[in-house]
Amino acid sequence: MGPSGRSWLVVLLVSATLCAHVSAAASNDTTLLAAERTRRKDPLDGLRYYTGGWNISNRHYLASAGFSAAPVFAFAALWFVAVAAAALIACCCSCCCRGGGGSSSYSYSRRVFALSLLLLLVFTAAAVIGCAVLYDGQGKFNGSTTATLDYVVRQADGAAATMRNFTGLLQTAKTVGGGVASLPADVARSIDDVAGRVDAASDELTARTASNSRRIRTALDTIRKVLIGVAAVMLVLVLLGFVFSLTGKKSLVSIVVFLGWIIITATLILSGTFLLLHNVIGDTCVAMDEWVVQPQGQSHTALDDILPCADAAVTAEALRRSKDVNFQLVSKLNELVSNVSNRDVPAQVGPPLYYNQSGPLVPLLCSPYNAADLSDRSCAAGEVTTDNAQQVWQRYVCRATGSSGQEVCSTVGRLTPAMYSQMVTVAGLSDGLRGQSPALADIASCVTVRRAFQTVSQRGCPPLRRDSGRLYQALLAASLAAMLAAAAWVVHSRERRRRRESERFKVSPYRLPIEEKVLLNSPRRPYRRV
Ligand SMILES: *[C@@H]1O[C@H](CO)[C@@H](O)[C@H](O)[C@H]1NC(C)=O
Ligand SMILES: *[C@@H]1O[C@H](CO)[C@@H](O)[C@H](O)[C@H]1NC(C)=O
Ligand SMILES: *[C@@H]1O[C@H](CO)[C@@H](O)[C@H](O)[C@H]1NC(C)=O
Ligand SMILES: *[C@@H]1O[C@H](CO)[C@@H](O)[C@H](O)[C@H]1NC(C)=O
Ligand SMILES: *[C@@H]1O[C@H](CO)[C@@H](O)[C@H](O)[C@H]1NC(C)=O
Repeated sequence: MGPSGRSWLVVLLVSATLCAHVSAAASNDTTLLAAERTRRKDPLDGLRYYTGGWNISNRHYLASAGFSAAPVFAFAALWFVAVAAAALIACCCSCCCRGGGGSSSYSYSRRVFALSLLLLLVFTAAAVIGCAVLYDGQGKFNGSTTATLDYVVRQADGAAATMRNFTGLLQTAKTVGGGVASLPADVARSIDDVAGRVDAASDELTARTASNSRRIRTALDTIRKVLIGVAAVMLVLVLLGFVFSLTGKKSLVSIVVFLGWIIITATLILSGTFLLLHNVIGDTCVAMDEWVVQPQGQSHTALDDILPCADAAVTAEALRRSKDVNFQLVSKLNELVSNVSNRDVPAQVGPPLYYNQSGPLVPLLCSPYNAADLSDRSCAAGEVTTDNAQQVWQRYVCRATGSSGQEVCSTVGRLTPAMYSQMVTVAGLSDGLRGQSPALADIASCVTVRRAFQTVSQRGCPPLRRDSGRLYQALLAASLAAMLAAAAWVVHSRERRRRRESERFKVSPYRLPIEEKVLLNSPRRPYRRV
């Protein structure tokens, strides 16, 4: 399963495409992952040791991993050739020896017959158990791969949702700020720009996750069907072989043995493939472990090819823009509060500056960032934080009369209900933008991918390793049991024929060649002694 096996694996791991873009700035500093573990003999390179580390896109890596499963493949070839040779020899023998006294020595022994029956029963039972173990193994393997896949897809979807949430907030900030905190034109334009890029990144992530997970699921489904098919066909063959050898029908047993020869060869090849897969899964887990503990990834690794971190430039720009927008929103809001709401202007000035505002001054909203460099800022005394702005401002709302846009306070207070609700919306937006920052920063700095790898390697890898190893062993064991069962069919059916023939001869006191036996059974011919 060369290419399909490879794509299956690529897809399995890639599924973790939590990030949006392939890192644009590939540095020339490359770090090898799992170099120790992947040092294997490379058949494509004159059996020299492969030293390139874990790299699924390198054919030398795949060849050397495949070479580690060579004994199983060699065994499959040996079985294939040996049975073919044995059948050829048996065929030749039966041709040459025909008439030469093939039935001249009836060495029927009750003990040998019983022994062959016992072996038949034991090996048939072993083969049936092998099929059951195989079926169970494919279920477990499917379970662990699906669980890992689901986890990774959840992470990718979560990252994409965070990005979409973020651009949604930015877009809202652009429009909703309107009345109380309209953003400067250049900030509004840059919102469109950044939101467009983050949306594109998030769309790409979603699309890649969807297509990768679809491919993996298809591949897993195919593997499942193949394994179930192998287990089912083998079970049917084992039972048929058992029944046919009990009847002693030579031709039927031959057909079943022929089919068994093919399915056992296929099973052995499958077993070798799973050994390869088991090795590659182990390598990948080690590679992930090493990648996770690496210093905050500056160097390029083979894992980046399939699981890159987010485009640092786009995400960093988005983060900076988010802080900028947040800062501007809060500044505009506070300007409005201090220039209009908190100012006692004469009634002659008229709306929008005068709307009969009176009473205690409205506290300003705490800006989360410093003006100079947008670094984090702690709130000054007398400012309200975004969490409690809603409650605090509620106390400054007056009852208003007049049409909307021309409202005038008829009671003490400095905020009309319309102003209040807009201000609360802006405070919520500021809170939301600030709340999204850590998640976005995690995506930008690879922390999300790192965390996902860590979880996969801690929770996904042990069952994946165990189940792929067990599946390989189950396939090997099932084919060995089936081989022994096939041998038992041949031996037992021959013993059964011998017994039948020897029972036939009990009629006569003498051992007779075939022709005489026919004569003996024929009623018309007279009995003739040899
Ligand atoms: C790549 O290597 C060259 C020369 O070895 C060096 O000048 C350059 O800075 C390196 N680039 C990166 C991104 O590390
Ligand atoms: C998206 O934003 C909403 C409200 O702003 C929040 O409840 C939700 O948890 C956010 N989702 C993600 C994935 O951050
Ligand atoms: C992985 O192998 C490919 C193909 O040989 C090669 O182009 C790439 O540079 C390798 N990557 C690493 C990180 O070694
Ligand atoms: C608020 O007042 C300051 C100076 O008093 C002025 O620079 C600024 O433009 C005013 N803002 C608004 C929204 O009226
Ligand atoms: C203005 O507000 C005061 C209370 O501060 C109130 O007594 C008065 O009636 C209001 N004027 C108008 C025109 O609503």
